[in-house]
Amino acid sequence: MTTLVTGGAGYVGSHTVVALCAAGREVVILDDFSNARRSVVDALRALTGARLDVVEDDAADRAVIDRTCGAHDIDSIVHFAAHKSVSESVVEPLRYYRNNLASTVALAEAAIERGIPRIVLSSSATVYGTAAELPVTEESPLSPESPYGATKQMCERILADASASSSTRSVLLRYFNPVGAHPSGDIGEIPLGEPQNLVPAVMEVALGTRSRLQLFGDDYDTPDGTTIRDYIHVMDLAEGHVAALEADLGSYASRAFNLGTGVGTSVHEIVRAASEVTQREIPFDVVARRPGDLAESWADCRRAATELGWSAQRELKQMLGDHWRFLRKHARGMS
Ligand code: UD1
Repeated sequence: MTTLVTGGAGYVGSHTVVALCAAGREVVILDDFSNARRSVVDALRALTGARLDVVEDDAADRAVIDRTCGAHDIDSIVHFAAHKSVSESVVEPLRYYRNNLASTVALAEAAIERGIPRIVLSSSATVYGTAAELPVTEESPLSPESPYGATKQMCERILADASASSSTRSVLLRYFNPVGAHPSGDIGEIPLGEPQNLVPAVMEVALGTRSRLQLFGDDYDTPDGTTIRDYIHVMDLAEGHVAALEADLGSYASRAFNLGTGVGTSVHEIVRAASEVTQREIPFDVVARRPGDLAESWADCRRAATELGWSAQRELKQMLGDHWRFLRKHARGMS
């Protein structure tokens, strides 16, 4: 049983490689390292004890996919490789559409031609846009508000249509807000540029590499005025992919699942919890709202619990503690 993991050197991808190996699968990584460090592969080999073949190339290139599948006995694909910055996608939408759609089409074609029974897509809760009601269920309307979000919705549609016309089944995993790192502290997320997401920004302040957090708005219609999100430990998310590969999908050719905890946490609560976990002050300045930010978003995860037999096990302090351990070990070292 060998799983092809595109984008397997990235943040969620690398943690999923660990979970797949722990579940007894062989893994081949296809990654162009445009947004990942090569040192991640060494860390993964040390952590898993697996050989881990790595193909450094473009996941949108059919010849590359065919060569890779031909050289290994691939029985499933987990597709992470994609551009993922909301703000960048607004400035360069066509680069996002080309890259994210082309790889999904190429992988779906290869999967169908080769009779690969299952493909799992790394999607995002961003496909819902502003939720009409909370918690967000898989039946909530899809209304992405950025080109990046639109690419994820389109990739879901591509796989749903491909599955409807073939024996390759697809599982579409809509992540809420992934944070944390492997508990060893050996893999995690170091943003290649300035971190845009909350927890990496908070951790930079704790580390002292940034002097103050900019808190984007405390005048939302929420209990403490700051935005609420469903933060999920990246290892829980990783294990969700194993469940998605193994689950009996019944009569569904393609099925979408929310992966979150079902618990909402505000920015103030994150800052307080991070300060406790790191034992550091996290000074912040309240500044204007960030354009496009939603007030609240958290998941209804009952479908994943019922149909995948998966639910998140790790709580906020563990997410922040593991994130912190990784950063303290690596923030200045990884190349
Ligand atoms: C963002 C992306 C989303 C992606 C998710 C991954 C946008 C609009 N959405 O979501 O597509 O799937 O990350 O985790 O970029 N905040 C601060 N100060 C900061 C950073 C963030 O106050 O320095 C606030 C933000 O205003 C937001 C909350 O913290 O209200 C969470 O932000 P973030 O971690 O970027 O997540 P999302 O906005 O939910």
